[in-house]
Amino acid sequence: TSTEPATKKPATSPFERITVIGAGLMGSGIAQVSAMAKHQVNLVDVSEDSLNRGQGYILKSLKRIAKKNFPDNQTAQISFTEDVLSRIEFTTKTEDAASKSDLVVEAVIENIELKQKIFTSVSAVTGKDTILASNTSSLPIKDIFVTIPQEKLQFTAGLHFFNPVPQMKLVEIVKTEHTSEDTFSKLYDYTLSLKKAPVACKDTPGFIVNRLLVPYMMEAVRMLERGDATAKDIDTAMKLGAGYPMGPFELLDYVGLDTVSFVVGGWNSTNKEMRESGLSSPSKILDDLVKSGRLGIKSGEGFYKYK
Ligand code: CAA
Ligand code: NAD
Repeated sequence: TSTEPATKKPATSPFERITVIGAGLMGSGIAQVSAMAKHQVNLVDVSEDSLNRGQGYILKSLKRIAKKNFPDNQTAQISFTEDVLSRIEFTTKTEDAASKSDLVVEAVIENIELKQKIFTSVSAVTGKDTILASNTSSLPIKDIFVTIPQEKLQFTAGLHFFNPVPQMKLVEIVKTEHTSEDTFSKLYDYTLSLKKAPVACKDTPGFIVNRLLVPYMMEAVRMLERGDATAKDIDTAMKLGAGYPMGPFELLDYVGLDTVSFVVGGWNSTNKEMRESGLSSPSKILDDLVKSGRLGIKSGEGFYKYK
């Protein structure tokens, strides 16, 4: 399927109520932009603490947008923020939320067994044409949905947002052999209603962006491991010499080192082509940082310190 130019006008969303599962960096962003586009949203996570952290991400981002949209008008800033938040229900009840939704977007950690388990229970309670989508960075979409009833496969797809969700324009819509044209077109219109730019992708490792971006970040880590240059100098080089907004180590910390480690670990253990290319070889520096809880900005430290 080809896609229209990135600047196509916003469409009316085919969805009213959306459930987002996982209130981390990505899920909170997806919930926020969906609520900003007037959808009713349920944002699900496993604990009140995780939900509070997700709400914190959303508040911080909304305040930033409100200040920009309504400079010098604090009343308008507050009412904008409250209006968006009023459309988001924070909950730990996954099935309850999903059963009332016409789109479910999963954004939990990058673990295939967990994602399969969630879709097994969610697909048992959702309506017969509810669309089920995963925001996975790297896992095969068809594998995430192997456990759901056959007749629901036509309603499944990948829906891959980028971090920070409120700011990044792109959404990759990933079609499997089962995804119907109607499912694709509804997801397409939904992303346009968020004022995002959709592109169509096949269900291949890393889709478009991560197939290029993750090997690039891992090459930077290998450069550091060999002692070719410091992290700071590699970052400076890529920002000033290649015009990237962040250097690879800043970006690794921004994305989350656990997420990148899950991505390359998964590719290396399951994908012969990626393994033989060496592009997904594990890295000791990266794995040691993850083991010690240094996950990047979200934990306060990664390649750099943020506290
Ligand atoms: N919410 C709302 N607005 C935000 C925001 C947020 N969370 N983060 C940034 N912004 C806005 C700012 O308000 C600002 O808006 P204006 O220009 O209108 O004033 C704009 O973004 C720029 O922000 P800053 O001035 O604070 O900082 P910056 O110029 O350094 O930009 C950035 C920040 C947009 C994150 C930029 O550094 C960037 O694009 N970095 C690269 C991000 C990237 O590559 N993301 C993809 C990661 S890979 C991925 O997501 C896929 C995966 O599966 C792992
Ligand atoms: P994160 O660690 O910030 O958030 C994951 C959230 O999932 C946590 O709040 C966790 O409590 C929650 N969770 C775990 N088990 C759950 C369950 N059973 N039910 C509900 N919630 C549960 O991770 P993230 O960066 O938001 O990544 C989420 C997904 O999005 C991953 O698949 C990742 O690969 C993908 N992704 C990440 C980025 C990025 O830059 N970080 C970009 C695009 C896609």
